Amino acid sequence: MQSTLFVVPGLIALAGLMTLTGTAESATTAHSRITRKSFGKAPDGHPISLYTLTNAHGMEARITNYGGIVVSLTAPDRNGKFGDVVLGYSTIDGYIKNSPYFGALIGRYGNRIAKGHFTLDGHTYKLAVNNGPNSLHGGKKGFDKVVWQAHEVRARNGVGLALHYLSKDGEEGYPGNLSVDVLYTLTNNNELRIDYKATTDKDTVLNLTNHSYFNLAGQGNGDVLGHLMMINADKFTPIDKTSIPLGDLKPVQVTPFDFRKPTAIGARINEQDQQLKFGTGYDHNFVLNRKGTGLSLAARAYEPKTGRVLEAYTTQPGVQFYTGNFLDGTIKGKGGKVYKQRYAFCLETQHYPDSPNRPDFPTTVLKPGQTYKQTTVYKFSAR
Ligand code: BGC
Repeated sequence: MQSTLFVVPGLIALAGLMTLTGTAESATTAHSRITRKSFGKAPDGHPISLYTLTNAHGMEARITNYGGIVVSLTAPDRNGKFGDVVLGYSTIDGYIKNSPYFGALIGRYGNRIAKGHFTLDGHTYKLAVNNGPNSLHGGKKGFDKVVWQAHEVRARNGVGLALHYLSKDGEEGYPGNLSVDVLYTLTNNNELRIDYKATTDKDTVLNLTNHSYFNLAGQGNGDVLGHLMMINADKFTPIDKTSIPLGDLKPVQVTPFDFRKPTAIGARINEQDQQLKFGTGYDHNFVLNRKGTGLSLAARAYEPKTGRVLEAYTTQPGVQFYTGNFLDGTIKGKGGKVYKQRYAFCLETQHYPDSPNRPDFPTTVLKPGQTYKQTTVYKFSAR
């Protein structure tokens, strides 16, 4: 038995996590279970697995160790009927060939770094420019495209999948050998909990997140404009036309970015507003209202037809609210569903974009001897 894998001060105790011994294909606790099957091969020939985590209420998360991708996630509606609430592909091929980061782990740096460079300790690091003039989501081969070591774990209140990846010094231009652990736990409270942990042997920058595309009416079942969204943020970081923060924290008050009270995603999305134009809709970092360093409520989404509710809690200072603006109907996903513009929203919990070039933003620097720890919980219910 192994002791606690992740200890995040002030958070739900994960003590009692156990590594399941041997190479068992399946393991069962009293209420929840995890099974594994083959999910094909990565482009380099590495065999890939697909893990199915099932909790005591029958909620199911399927996660692959290719990119740490959440392939599917079911949640009950107000009649107890389960539906898959995340966009994605049913085969590994889709993810390899053409994925706008569906469900994936993002690193080393979630969102953009301006012009693909930053200076740390007097040294300028150059990154792949893969999004207009900027570097997006870790570069050419980010953490969404690497094979993670995986093992199944049992939690006191659910079941988990522990992922590990060693990102070598210089990978994608970033300094330091970075050892990353991500623990996905499907709890018996209908939560998908993600604990991130990392250490480095050289000063570096780091901003890890998950890029799930949610649609609470069920994946592929229309746009999300009727979802009511609440974002617990008095301010957001306005962007330039290449989606880089201008530097100021702007009050959301009297702007289409005021989601402090539940508001339909579509209520203001087509307003004449320069920020909405720059983002082609919502694609902005919100500065979360928070006290202390523990988990706090970032956002709550409600889908009126099904009654499904998603709450996102995080230890992070920000969340990227993205409304699937660049989905254009060319992707056919799970069950042959076609994903059109605004067929999903993302709540990418994070540090602010371009922080390595913004000394006034909360720091994303990680130094040897320090341990990076962040947690995000996506909690599902219905009313
Ligand atoms: C970015 C968007 C991007 C999307 C998918 C979001 O985090 O802010 O601009 O299109 O990810 O890559």
